[in-house]
Parts: sequence; structure tokens; C-alpha cells
Amino acid sequence: MQYVPFGRTGLTVSVAGLGCGGNSILGLAKGKSEAEAVQLVRAAFDQGVTLFDTAEAYGTEGVVGEAAKQIGRDKVIVASKARMREDGEFITAAQLEAKLDASLAKLQTDYIDIYQLHAVTPAMVEHVEEELVPALQAAKAAGKIRHIGLTETSPHDHDQLTLQRVLPTGVWESAMFAFNLMHQGARQDVFPLTEKHGVGTLLMFVVRNVFSQPGVLQQTVKELVAAGQLPEKLADDPEPLGFLIHESGAASLLDAAYRYGRHEPGAHVTLFGTSEIAHLEANIASILRPPLPAADRKRVAKIFGHLKGVGLDLPTRAKAPKH
Ligand SMILES: NC(=O)c1ccc[n+]([C@@H]2O[C@H](COP(=O)([O-])OP(=O)(O)OC[C@H]3O[C@@H](n4cnc5c(N)ncnc54)[C@H](OP(=O)(O)O)[C@@H]3O)[C@@H](O)[C@H]2O)c1
Repeated sequence: MQYVPFGRTGLTVSVAGLGCGGNSILGLAKGKSEAEAVQLVRAAFDQGVTLFDTAEAYGTEGVVGEAAKQIGRDKVIVASKARMREDGEFITAAQLEAKLDASLAKLQTDYIDIYQLHAVTPAMVEHVEEELVPALQAAKAAGKIRHIGLTETSPHDHDQLTLQRVLPTGVWESAMFAFNLMHQGARQDVFPLTEKHGVGTLLMFVVRNVFSQPGVLQQTVKELVAAGQLPEKLADDPEPLGFLIHESGAASLLDAAYRYGRHEPGAHVTLFGTSEIAHLEANIASILRPPLPAADRKRVAKIFGHLKGVGLDLPTRAKAPKH
């Protein structure tokens, strides 16, 4: 595993982070048991992963807490999140405090390393800054959380306006946002801010459906051609990103996608979600491989660099997703 400093937090994190939500929610979405999910977390730790990203909304805090207890709480970095709404209303400071206490109990711990406000829309920013930031700071002063973070809601904020608004305040220590082969806007809009303010970065939507499910990329490209956003010649290309796969390049589309995220300047943790140990091992191996060749990265930026919002699907699990 490779480890990097996480912004100004003083934490050192593994470059591969296990996402405990997404389509797979550690396999729980596919009928696996909590005991199997604990094994998946432990397998990730055995491969050197130290950062685990869960949330109130995922229903996996209990699993992460159990695995952390078995591994040793001080050996892992636990990130969790609070939902921003209750009964359709923005949460209050008191509700945030209650959520944090509930998360601590589920995680069987007395501190959360990175506590994040989950899926903050641009419309929530004012409320977050006025009502919730003081509550987060109080929780930090009380030792219940070590670092304050926030995640964007990528499917509803393609221009990453939330992060562009909040990061210059210098309050945030961690930011989670989307970046992938066909959604590269963070290079201009977010990374310069995270670098400037020493904010730790967690990349999501690096793969999701478009780079993992057969046919989704081809269909997506067809639609982008029809919308005039990609050149006509790509419409019937069976492998629109096939140029990335060659002997000195990527081994597969997934390999290309994870390596592309991992090596973006300013990226600290590349999150991946899975329900399968074999996928976990393959993804970690990809994240640890060198950057894609410079010529390939240049071509990706040239053909797809202007796109926004590609691959930001809501989770494809049976349970109704929130974000
Ligand atoms: N707003 C937010 O805060 C927010 C939103 C989205 C995501 N996130 C975080 O980011 C994490 C990562 O996102 P994500 O879960 O969508 O992960 P992802 O790595 O972008 O995509 C995971 C999808 O790809 C599949 N997959 C993974 N590895 C594979 C492999 N080697 N071969 C074939 N298929 C593979 C998974 O299915 P299998 O189960 O079959 O492997 C799953 O369907 C989440 O778990 C969550 O922690 C946060």
C-alpha cells in the first residue's frame, strides 16, 4: 500500500479507501451477511487499506465498528457522515449532535476521525455555515470528532458549486467529491482550492456504473454524441476508451479508471466500493499501479475534458437511494 498525508489534518491515509456505501454497501446490497461484510473490511485492512468511509445513510456503521474493534480502533481511520435532512427539513445543530452520538454508538467508538456533512447541496450552504459548522467545531473541541468534512452531492451538483463556495472559508479539513475519466471538472474547480487550504481529498464516482457495467459506457457515449458533446465517430465505437488498454498502459477499463483517479494531482484517497474480495484485490492492485502513460492522459483530457456529470449515477441497489 502507499500512504500519503491527508491535507493539513496530520493524518496519513492509504491511497485506496474502502467505500462502505454506493451500489454494494459492502455486499449487504447483494444479500451478503454482516459477518461477511466485516470480513470484507478486514480483508481490505489486510491489504493495507486504513481509511473506511461509512455513513448514517448506508447502514454500515455497525459493520465498520465491529471490524475496527477486531482490528484495533487506533489502526484505522473511520470516516462517517450525517444526513442533512430530517422529515424534509434541514437538520438543526441539536439534531446533528444527536446523529453524531448515534453514529458513535453504532461504530462502538468514542471518536470519529473524519465526520462529514453528507451530500450538501449549494442551497444548504448558508444553513451549514451558520447552524452546523459551530456544532461541528464544538464536537471537535469535545473530542468526539477529529476532523471536519463535507461531501458534495455529485448527481445534483455537476459544477461542484458547493465546494467552490465552502472551501475558501478554510473551515473544512476534508472534502469528498466526484472525479473520473469523463468528469474532470474538479481539476480546475476543486483541486486548486483543496491544495490552497490544505484540505484532504476523497474521490468518489471514480468507477460507479459507467466504467464497471457492460454496455453502460457505449450507451453513455452514444447519448453524448447525440447531444453534440462528443465527435460523431465515437457513436458506434465498441470501445470508446479502448486506446487506454495496451501493453504499457491499462490492463482493463476498470484499471484505467482507478489509476486515472489515483494519480490526479491533489487526490489523496481513491474510494472504491465492492461486495467481492476478488474485486477488492483487483481494485487495490490498480490503485497501486503507476499513472497511465502521459500521452493517454493527454488524450483523455482532450476528448473528454469538457464533459461534466458523466458517470454520476445514483446507486443501483434495490433500496431507494438518497444520493
Ligand atoms: N455523496 C456521497 O457522500 C457519496 C456518493 C457516492 C459515493 N460515496 C462514497 O464513495 C464510495 C465509492 O463509490 P462507489 O461505491 O460507487 O464505488 P465505485 O468504485 O465508483 O463503483 C463501485 C461499482 O463498481 C463495481 N466494481 C467495483 N470493483 C469492481 C471490479 N473490480 N470488477 C467489476 N466491478 C467492480 C461494484 O460492484 P461489485 O460489488 O460487484 O464490486 C459497484 O457496482 C462509496 O462506497 C461511498 O463511500 C459517497
